[in-house]
Amino acid sequence: MRIQKIAFALIIGGVIIWGGSLAIAKIILPEKNPPVKHQDPIIGKQSDPILKRSCFDCHSNETRWPWYTYMPVISVLLAHDVDEGRGELNFSEWSQYSLKKKTQKLKESIEKIEEKEMPMKIYTLVHPETIITSGELAFMRKEISESGISIPKERSSKKREDEDHKNENEHD
Ligand code: HEC
Repeated sequence: MRIQKIAFALIIGGVIIWGGSLAIAKIILPEKNPPVKHQDPIIGKQSDPILKRSCFDCHSNETRWPWYTYMPVISVLLAHDVDEGRGELNFSEWSQYSLKKKTQKLKESIEKIEEKEMPMKIYTLVHPETIITSGELAFMRKEISESGISIPKERSSKKREDEDHKNENEHD
């Protein structure tokens, strides 16, 4: 009798936590995958599939939502990352960005990839196939410059970084 009560309480508790998590996730991300606004190329033929593979889950309206994204608590954390990621950079709205914004976002993206900050570490633990190799990065740099957008060269020294910071400050 006692055991049955405890089991019952655990099940009810679990359902409440689960339901609560999904509800909170839904509040953070009211529309899980809003309509994709544009299909234009972002960088080019070779780089776009890399972005799609490694960045679109958080920086586009084409997020994949596998089963574990519906698990309690995880759902809230992931909804938060996607919401924040889309806020910073949404490739689905790329064609609405000005040339200045595109340049800035590509520059930041390449930097983040070089510094191994993007894709987020916690994400690459679960999706190791999304890590961008240095070969892929080189492709992306090449295609970006072919598209007429100029971004800083690979940072090889501390001096380089300081120069970039100086340039950033001049822009603001
Ligand atoms: C698991 C989700 C996730 C993935 C995958 C992901 N990002 Fe992000 N990204 C975020 C979040 C969350 C932020 C905002 C917080 C931050 O800056 O860390 C962000 C911020 C950014 C920013 C703005 C940084 C700044 O400081 O202004 C850039 C640029 C960016 N991401 C590029 C990328 C690129 C390029 C990829 C793919 C190679 C990628 N991200 C993959 C979640 C993600």
